[in-house]
Amino acid sequence: KKRTVDNLRSPVVCVLGHVDTGKTKILDKLRRTHVQDGEAGGITQQIGATNVPIDAIKEAAKFVKGFTELAVRVPGLLLIDTPGHESFSNLRSRGSSVCDIAILVVDIMHGLEPQTLESIKLLKAKNTPFIVALNKIDRIYDWQPNAKRDVRDDVKGQSKLAMNEYTKRTNDVIVQFAEQGLNVALFYKNPDPNEYMSMVPTSAATGEGMGNLMALIVEYSQSMLTKRLMYSNELQATVLEVKAIPGLGTTIDVILINGALREGDTLILAGTEGPIVTQIRSLLTPQPMKELRVKNTYIEYKEIKGSIGVKIAAKDLEKAIAGLNVSVACQPDEVEFCRSEVAHE
Ligand code: GTP
Ligand code: NA
Ligand code: MG
Repeated sequence: KKRTVDNLRSPVVCVLGHVDTGKTKILDKLRRTHVQDGEAGGITQQIGATNVPIDAIKEAAKFVKGFTELAVRVPGLLLIDTPGHESFSNLRSRGSSVCDIAILVVDIMHGLEPQTLESIKLLKAKNTPFIVALNKIDRIYDWQPNAKRDVRDDVKGQSKLAMNEYTKRTNDVIVQFAEQGLNVALFYKNPDPNEYMSMVPTSAATGEGMGNLMALIVEYSQSMLTKRLMYSNELQATVLEVKAIPGLGTTIDVILINGALREGDTLILAGTEGPIVTQIRSLLTPQPMKELRVKNTYIEYKEIKGSIGVKIAAKDLEKAIAGLNVSVACQPDEVEFCRSEVAHE
């Protein structure tokens, strides 16, 4: 089937940034979940994935001016949470390598920090576009949150004192990005989205700016990444995590970007002791708006299409390697070919 504008897949959106800038909390606010509260030491230690239907985006963005009139063409967003702690640079790299666009979270009180710079390097290396979430605006002195409006009006409604600090801190961050050779502008002052990446003030504590952030991701993706987002039948899938789940055995969490997977398909993937060939026993996703890395009640599929975060249960996954691609053999004689392909990856 031909790839068309009428058949876009969900953009894969990776959330990157320094430790404790609020990446997980932003996702919690959007999902109405409490994943961050359950994390040991409040630190993310795994890559997460959340399938967000477009209706949930529309609900989150209902106060955003102009968004309800926009013809939305993406079926949803696939959000990838990553850890910001310095010891997890392999996970940041893995997350950023599967994404179409990123949300780079910066704490407005701290500006650019070491893992922000590391994230910027990853994004530059793959030419990945990003939107900056300038988070924790609620911590500005005398800030009066109002989440039930477009963040532009929220900002306008602040006292002179709060506005001064907001302007000063925002300008400092813009200068810090310029020092990294990046043009960044507040989204409502962005003179040209081709030249400047947009920055959205947000608070994951109050919910301010969350709708605007989601609206910008949707608008940018469908207008600037249209070609890339046209659904293709050719399988493109990457293993995010390998983990044992009680009752399921060792499973793999997979980002299925393009193509379809079916129960019973013969999977071929890289393992620490050579290629693994195994049959898909079950294809599972959490409920929409729930985090794949948190144990949940799963929805089971006979067939599933990209893009989506999916958990796969099968035999012999104990030695699977995360971060690499998965392929599927259609004919028995393809197994040998795919096996050699995987071995040379
Ligand atoms: P790692 O995944 O460990 O890198 O951290 P993270 O970027 O996911 O940050 P996390 O969501 O764990 O938030 C860190 C801390 O900041 C938590 O205590 C949050 O409650 C708090 N926090 C996050 N966003 C905001 C915000 O907008 N305002 C305020 N006041 N606190 C926030
Ligand atoms: Na944290
Ligand atoms: Mg986190």
